[in-house]
Amino acid sequence: MEKRSVTVAAVDVAALEVDAQNAIAAASSTGELDDVRVRFLGRKSELKQALRNVRDRESGMTLNAARERIEAALSDRERTLERAELDRALTEEEIDVTLPGDVIRRGRLHPLTQVRREVEDIFLGLGYEIVDGDEVEDTWHLFDALNMPPQHITRSPLHTLYLNGDIVLRTETSASQIRVMQERQPPVFMISPGRVYRRDTIDATHGAIFHQVEGLAVDRGITLADLKGTLRYVCRALFGAEREVRFVTDFFPFTEPSVGVAVSCFLCEGAGCATCKRTGWIEMAGSGLVDPNVLENVGYDPDEVSGFAFGLGLERIAMLRHGIPDLRMFLENDLRFLRQF
Ligand code: DAH
Repeated sequence: MEKRSVTVAAVDVAALEVDAQNAIAAASSTGELDDVRVRFLGRKSELKQALRNVRDRESGMTLNAARERIEAALSDRERTLERAELDRALTEEEIDVTLPGDVIRRGRLHPLTQVRREVEDIFLGLGYEIVDGDEVEDTWHLFDALNMPPQHITRSPLHTLYLNGDIVLRTETSASQIRVMQERQPPVFMISPGRVYRRDTIDATHGAIFHQVEGLAVDRGITLADLKGTLRYVCRALFGAEREVRFVTDFFPFTEPSVGVAVSCFLCEGAGCATCKRTGWIEMAGSGLVDPNVLENVGYDPDEVSGFAFGLGLERIAMLRHGIPDLRMFLENDLRFLRQF
């Protein structure tokens, strides 16, 4: 830019002031107004340079008067613009803190998770420990060690999902008894909840995937009385203190004797209804005293220690609890169903 030697005489003060006033009026934001201020009053502005070169009092007064009027116009305009900007912010950016907020839906636990945790709490209170088993097992832990001979019907590929050779998806949680007993010496008091797989035709009460809780107590001198006392306590904790608990003979390869556990129907109080199939009793668990063969299979001495074991179905407990008619609902992920629990 060509360097002009500014003299007062060379500055048309009146024209400059008109320019400045026009620019001030045209500024539509405080930001634009700042630019105008720099342009007309900044260090390199014509006016400031003229002031610097002033030689006589009269032109000094003229220039200063012009500067003062421009400054006054600038702060006037500034106030107007600030107020307008505030007004706009207040209307456009308004937040009504009294409006209801967006509802954030809380998640919840799956009904089976709720029942599992409840069962875990009951057994923790009895001093049992909770053990995770593997869903993929070998046939020795799932069948042989549990006293199920090679020709046992459950071992057929029509009932059990074989992955590879003797590797299978577990059909029951009982294999975790074996693994725990192999790892340590009695006393053992443990439960092991988890998912099991069967090659079953799926209907309202049968699933190819469902959940069990395995239980095991092994120590010196454990008897059928311990089994009865424990399972009566657990059934009443789950279904109400007024429940009767009935023990009937049953058969499982891994227990001797084997005992089926039933609670008095809490819907009809034992009178007989559709839920209890008119019997007044609802089957809750399979159980029994651990077969001496099983103890021997894990290296325990059946003359030294004895134990009881049981298996509970989690779906069954949840269905009875909530009156859920169909086992398939647990796996369908239908929020209309799941939100009810
Ligand atoms: N494993 C059995 C089942 O899937 C349930 C069961 C019965 C487990 C008796 C046990 C038991 O530990 O002693 O039907």
